[in-house]
Amino acid sequence: MEDLSLHILDIAENSIAGGATKIQIKIIEDTRENLLLIEIADNGKGMDENTIKMAYDPFFTTKTTRRVGLGIPLLAQAARESSGSISVVSKKDGGTIITANFQHNHIDRKPLGDIVKTITVLIAAHPDIDFLFEHGRNDRFYSLDTADIKNDIGNIPINAPEVIKFIKDDISQWLNDTKSSIL
Ligand SMILES: Nc1ncnc2c1ncn2[C@@H]1O[C@H](COP(=O)(O)OP(=O)(O)OP(=O)(O)O)[C@@H](O)[C@H]1O
Ligand SMILES: [Mg+2]
Repeated sequence: MEDLSLHILDIAENSIAGGATKIQIKIIEDTRENLLLIEIADNGKGMDENTIKMAYDPFFTTKTTRRVGLGIPLLAQAARESSGSISVVSKKDGGTIITANFQHNHIDRKPLGDIVKTITVLIAAHPDIDFLFEHGRNDRFYSLDTADIKNDIGNIPINAPEVIKFIKDDISQWLNDTKSSIL
């Protein structure tokens, strides 16, 4: 996986597979602390202690279609490669929080990649799930909550093309406006 937005997509797919109805995706870019943090939290079925331990192991998966599960190990590897680490906090029936931190300016730190695409693909493909996307860039902060948008648009589905375009444009503009603040 070349960039972190693909890791986010992958980790969010775990939340979806775990039956989550709410998924929070948080990105914090803090160049003053030289930190990049990504957190994906869900209210899905969670993991017992044994499953959490096993989740770091590439040969563990509860999927029945194949024998390896790479989502968490690959994110852990990407974090380690930039002097970072991940943590998995989860409780059976109590949801899961996966946090990965990276040294922001590390030469091997993967770029964020196409975050607009990751968020819009998730929302468009899973209209029944509520996504909260939060992004901090030094002093600036952005948040987009599909639960709020759903309230505002009434009968229009969240994955209607014009709504997805609005979301796409809104996140793009935020990224563009704040590009220089993290250099
Ligand atoms: N958010 C989550 N909620 C519940 N269980 C989870 C969650 N994330 C991971 N797991 C458990 O940890 C296992 C390993 O996850 P991981 O993403 O590493 O591999 P995978 O999803 O099985 O396969 P892959 O990601 O390669 O398609 C999963 O099979 C699942 O049992
Ligand atoms: Mg996975």
